[in-house]
Amino acid sequence: MAEQKYEIGMVGLGVMGRNLVLNIADHGYSVSGYDKDLSKVQQLETEAGSRHIKSAQTLKEFVSMLSTPRAIMMLVPAGQVVDSVIHDLLPLLEKGDLIIDAGNSHFKDTDLRSKSLAEKSILYMGVGVSGGEEGARNGPSLMPGGPKEAYERVRPIFEAVAAHVGEDPCVTYLGPGSAGHYVKMVHNGIEYGLMQLIAESYDVMKRGLELSDKELSVVFSNWNGAELNAYLMEITSRIFIKVDEKTGKHLVDVILDEARQKGTGMWTSQDAMDIQVPTPVIDAAVVARNLSALKGEREAAGKKLKVRKSRLKGKRDAILTKLKGAMFAAMIVTYAQGMAQLRTASKVYKYDLKLEDIARIWRGGCIIRSALLEDIRAAYLAHPDLPNLLIDKRLRKVVMSVQKDLRTVVGLAVKAGLPIPCLMASLAYFDAYRSAWLPANLIQAQRDDFGAHTYERVDAKGVFHTSWE
Ligand code: 6PG
Repeated sequence: MAEQKYEIGMVGLGVMGRNLVLNIADHGYSVSGYDKDLSKVQQLETEAGSRHIKSAQTLKEFVSMLSTPRAIMMLVPAGQVVDSVIHDLLPLLEKGDLIIDAGNSHFKDTDLRSKSLAEKSILYMGVGVSGGEEGARNGPSLMPGGPKEAYERVRPIFEAVAAHVGEDPCVTYLGPGSAGHYVKMVHNGIEYGLMQLIAESYDVMKRGLELSDKELSVVFSNWNGAELNAYLMEITSRIFIKVDEKTGKHLVDVILDEARQKGTGMWTSQDAMDIQVPTPVIDAAVVARNLSALKGEREAAGKKLKVRKSRLKGKRDAILTKLKGAMFAAMIVTYAQGMAQLRTASKVYKYDLKLEDIARIWRGGCIIRSALLEDIRAAYLAHPDLPNLLIDKRLRKVVMSVQKDLRTVVGLAVKAGLPIPCLMASLAYFDAYRSAWLPANLIQAQRDDFGAHTYERVDAKGVFHTSWE
């Protein structure tokens, strides 16, 4: 009897890998799994039940179990581990086999790996997977990039396992090379921005308005029920009522206020700087995490640079209404910056991204899913090359109606000495973006004065230099 062959393989059976294997098998595909850590292999065996899943004890056995041409997915930590898995796989593979990196790899690494594997006639895809453990198990948003023919091979599996919005799967082919990992990186940059904005609104309500955790939970739940609807609002609402088993206090209050990061938000900012796209909300969110990590220094500085009472001046309910508007404005600005980065990156890196597709596959499964993405999608459907979401007909009306709230909240928080870097950055970006004139003429004059860097004039073409003394 011919040996059973499996349609797809997974290297890396951690939480994400294992759950994705179960998800794939639940949709009727046969999957084989491998991990260097045999306890994880064992765990998959236990969870597999009667599903069409088989785990292997060695990489060689794993590869031999796959039908050809092979499709091998990796869900391993970004960086060196990815290279070492590829290195170990290579001698076991044949021309035309496909390796899929489904981790959060840096897009430049993905490009290098694609090129070197293409020389060996191995297809390589970089796929962003968003949605955490729950998403992997029940439907993530998938952001695939790489050779189109490779995508077509795995497309039925990807479409089956992805989250669905109605009938629409949250996956589509995004572009060549590292397009998928780039889009996932920017997804995470937006994720950082939204998370920091939510954290700032928490600060405004906690220290500024002295809301209790229960009240905070209600506010976030209300926001989630209206135009601010977003997965991150939903989880924030439930976080505030979770009780710590050890102390009986709300868990959030016993968590150390130092935010960690794996780097994807920082990469987004770094590349935005490289391709000169302004993304100040994302930048500020990365900086805010870095500042939070200086816990010891902050404590010492707080004693020397004494903080006055941070209570905001004004009526609580009125401020809460304004905070909601401010958050809406800032959220739109955050998505606008991420999408603008994707638009430019698409040209610089020749991804040929369809921004409408990206908004569409972010509507379900991923961490930044929100009601707003439906409007964002509509904006790009109407104008695929829209330079910035802030000028979309519908979104600009919304922003214009809530920008005053953002201004009021920023003013109040600044007066009370509350740090709100992302709210401030969104307002400054909005004001700068809509400003037909900016004081950059002075910068040009200074550059020309001290360094003869030349300048352009408003009334004549060409470049000019002046002796300023
Ligand atoms: C997702 C998340 C996921 C991961 C982040 C965490 O889309 O499912 O973005 O990829 O949780 O990378 O990133 P930090 O550790 O940098 O916060």
